[in-house]
Amino acid sequence: MKIIKVKNQLEGAKVGLDILKSQIAAGAKTFGLATGSTPVEFYNQIINSDIDFSDKTSINLDEYVGLDGSDEQSYRYFMSQHLFNEKPFKENFLPDGKAADLEAETKHYDAIIDAHPIDFQILGIGHNGHIGFNEPGTPFDITTHVVDLTESTIKANARYFECEADVPKKAVSMGIASIMKSKTIVLMAWGEGKSEAIKAMVEGEITESMPASILQKHDDVIVIVDEAAAKLLK
Ligand code: GLP
Repeated sequence: MKIIKVKNQLEGAKVGLDILKSQIAAGAKTFGLATGSTPVEFYNQIINSDIDFSDKTSINLDEYVGLDGSDEQSYRYFMSQHLFNEKPFKENFLPDGKAADLEAETKHYDAIIDAHPIDFQILGIGHNGHIGFNEPGTPFDITTHVVDLTESTIKANARYFECEADVPKKAVSMGIASIMKSKTIVLMAWGEGKSEAIKAMVEGEITESMPASILQKHDDVIVIVDEAAAKLLK
């Protein structure tokens, strides 16, 4: 893992943009994208850049079960607001949280990922070390699956909803095995609240109880952290 420490989110987003540009120059065509507050400034930097995505593909990590793209809390809506409306891609894939047959949807999403190998994957990290919605205890060899969100993730994500009870209890998430197949992975984390997860991910044991720890086994991971998120690192 390569660790890049930055002063703040804005500086980190700019570092992320430089990496993205060099990946595109090297031929990257498929981009694995994340939601949450972490990549928002990175997406702003992309919007304000001259990068043309009209011949490129995006594949998002996850979507809530029960929400469709017109729902303001859905991840598709989030991506439209924060990136896609301003930077059109050739195609944008997200799991269909409203699919009648969710098991079939997980297989369909795996087929999409197989057909579009991810060149550049952007990740945030949950306080409990989740990546995408791969919660602690998720097998490392899993592909797309339906997830029961943990209490702590529901609480953390309640800030986007009117009340905690409105947060969906399930999601469809790309699996850890698929994330690990991405050529280059850039994980960003901001703020002290992420410091314990970052320490465990970088310096801790590789264990399914800390999903992000598997990234130690990937040979091209860049971790961009601000001072607060990096504060427990040796
Ligand atoms: C969410 C998303 C993750 C994200 C994480 C952290 O549950 N599924 O992809 O990385 O939680 O969110 P945030 O960036 O808002 O801290």
